[in-house]
Amino acid sequence: MAERKPLLSIRNVKKIFKTRDGELEALGDVSFDVYPGEFVSIVGPSGCGKTTLLKILAGLLLKSGGAIEVDQANFDPAREVGFVFQKALLLYWRKILDNVLLPVEILKMDRAPMKERARDLLKLVGLQGFEQSYPKELSGGMQQRVSIARALIHDPKLLLMDEPFGALDAITRERMNLELLRIWEEAKKTILFVTHGINEAVFLSDRIIVLSARPSRMVQALDINLPRPRTLEVRTLPEFGQYALQIYNSLEIR
Ligand SMILES: Nc1ncnc2c1ncn2[C@@H]1O[C@H](COP(=O)(O)OP(=O)(O)O)[C@@H](O)[C@H]1O
Ligand SMILES: [Mg+2]
Repeated sequence: MAERKPLLSIRNVKKIFKTRDGELEALGDVSFDVYPGEFVSIVGPSGCGKTTLLKILAGLLLKSGGAIEVDQANFDPAREVGFVFQKALLLYWRKILDNVLLPVEILKMDRAPMKERARDLLKLVGLQGFEQSYPKELSGGMQQRVSIARALIHDPKLLLMDEPFGALDAITRERMNLELLRIWEEAKKTILFVTHGINEAVFLSDRIIVLSARPSRMVQALDINLPRPRTLEVRTLPEFGQYALQIYNSLEIR
C-alpha cells in the first residue's frame, strides 16, 4: 500500500475550544493517513476529541492548527464525504425513501434519477419494502441502516462514522458490523470509523488509531492483519485477542 497516495493526510491537527472558563485543548497533536479503500477505526477515551476530529474532517468545525491534505485529483471533500452520526437523526415527517434522498436536495442534485439509486441503497442495507414507511415504524437498527443509506446516496468516497452503533443492542450491533463490512466491500468505500468498542474495531478494521486522553495524541497505529472477508470465526483466532490486548495496553486499561 506504500506506493499509493493517501486519500486523506492528517498532519499535526490541533483543536482548542474557547470556552467561558478559558481554553480547552481537545486535540493535542494528531497525525495519520487514510488510504483509498481502507477501513480505519479511531478508539480513545471519552472526551479525547474523536467527534471533534470527524467534524473537522467533515468541514463542520475549524481546526486550530496543523493541516489536512486531501488527494484533490481523486477526491472532492465538499461533495464526496458521507457522515453517519451516533443517532440516525431521521426526519420523522418524511418517508424512508425521502429521508435517504435528503443529501440529494442539500447538494442540489437532480432528484429524479437518484430515486432509483435510493431504492437500490435501501436494498443494499436490507430495507427493501420499507421505502414508503415512516421512521417511527422502524426499529433502531433499521433506522440506523437508513442513515447509512442516506450517507451513501451521493456516492461519497469517504464515510465518516461516529459511534454509529453505540446506541444499539448487542445483537443488532453484531448484525450491523457484518452489514457494514458487506457494504464497504460491495460499494468500495473508504471508512473512518469512531468507536469505543475495542473488539468492534479489531473486527472491522485494516488499521486502528489509538488516541490518548485529552489533549489527545496518537499513542498507537495498529495494522490488523486478519483475513478478509471477516467472518464471526475471525474472533476465535488467537491473533484477534492479541490485537485487542495491544489496544487495552496502549489505553492503559489494566
Ligand atoms: N463546541 C464545543 N465547545 C467547547 N468544548 C467542546 C465543544 N465540543 C467538544 N468540546 C470538548 O472537547 C473535548 C472533546 O470532545 P469530543 O470530540 O466530543 O470527544 P469524544 O468524541 O472523543 O468523546 C471534550 O472535553 C468536550 O467537552
Ligand atoms: Mg464523540
